[in-house]
Amino acid sequence: MKYQVTITETLSRTVSVEAPSAEIAEEQVRGQYRDEEIVLGSSDFCYFDVDVNREDSKPFYQSQTGDFKLYYGDCMELLPLLNDKVDMVFADPPYFLSNGGISVQSGKIVSVNKGDWDKGMSSEDIDAFNRKWIGQCRELLKDNGTIWVSGTYHNIFSVANALASLGFKILNVITWAKTNPPPNISCRYFTYSTEFIIWARKMVKVPHYYNYELMKAINGDKQMTDVWRLPAIAPWEKTCGKHPTQKPLSLMSRIILASTKKGDKVLDPFCGSGTTGIAANLLERGFVGIEREREYVEMSQRRRLEIDNPQTAESYRTRIKDIDFVERCEVMV
Ligand SMILES: C[S@@+](CC[C@H](N)C(=O)[O-])C[C@H]1O[C@@H](n2cnc3c(N)ncnc32)[C@H](O)[C@@H]1O
Repeated sequence: MKYQVTITETLSRTVSVEAPSAEIAEEQVRGQYRDEEIVLGSSDFCYFDVDVNREDSKPFYQSQTGDFKLYYGDCMELLPLLNDKVDMVFADPPYFLSNGGISVQSGKIVSVNKGDWDKGMSSEDIDAFNRKWIGQCRELLKDNGTIWVSGTYHNIFSVANALASLGFKILNVITWAKTNPPPNISCRYFTYSTEFIIWARKMVKVPHYYNYELMKAINGDKQMTDVWRLPAIAPWEKTCGKHPTQKPLSLMSRIILASTKKGDKVLDPFCGSGTTGIAANLLERGFVGIEREREYVEMSQRRRLEIDNPQTAESYRTRIKDIDFVERCEVMV
């Protein structure tokens, strides 16, 4: 006698993967099964023995007072490991503009290639990249917190779309008009002299902090507009080494003064030479930064150690226009 039997196999296996978050672990497992042409649904997952005891989840450097914490690694892996909520995020992510062009710096022709991290990608990949890190930062932002993201036309539209689709409310798009831009050597189009910085709050309906009175006072008692005329980076800001896209302390100080209070915590997931952290600490805010290149993490550490000297810190404060204004007028920050 022959029997014909039909069985419905239920997938029940335990798979171990090393990943910084449950979400990434799940994606890795889905990938493995996709190769076998098996599609897993969310009910197929159940987690246990989650081990996040990783070396790179410890800070590379922490200041003595704990107001400056620096992590060395890929922010997409490290952001899910951070626990503390932050009041503000500033991000100067890759602009994806390093494609073999040339520019002029201090009278010399230089390549605009900033590093492998800034090489162009397809627009789909740029969108996926921006969506991912912005989504991870959103998890760490307090509900009344805000995010600032800088860019040029290469990335800024993608950033705006990611912010809107993740539920942020865009508050302003600041135009940073550089008072000393490099000349355009091709003479075939206008000189690039601006960058954009989108400011958005996490929740559409939860109010954010804006120091309106201070911004107005800094602007000669007239409402501060969304066009900021500030110089590009000055030589005194490069005493600890050079970063190809280092932001000026004057720009970072205005952002921090406008949107945070003393004692607040600021996160920068692409912190480069640590400018955000230096401005934050000069203004008595806490800082958490992440950077993927060792050379730049070390530069940030040197910059932070430099301002452990109160005289150096004070000399920087007097050179930063907005901080100098605040100190001289003794206004509330
Ligand atoms: C535009 S620069 C930031 C410069 C910074 N604002 C400053 O003032 O020095 C971007 C930085 O992000 C770093 N980076 C790129 N991709 C990263 C990633 N996935 N995780 C962490 N850092 C990354 C690069 O090495 C680079 O130093």
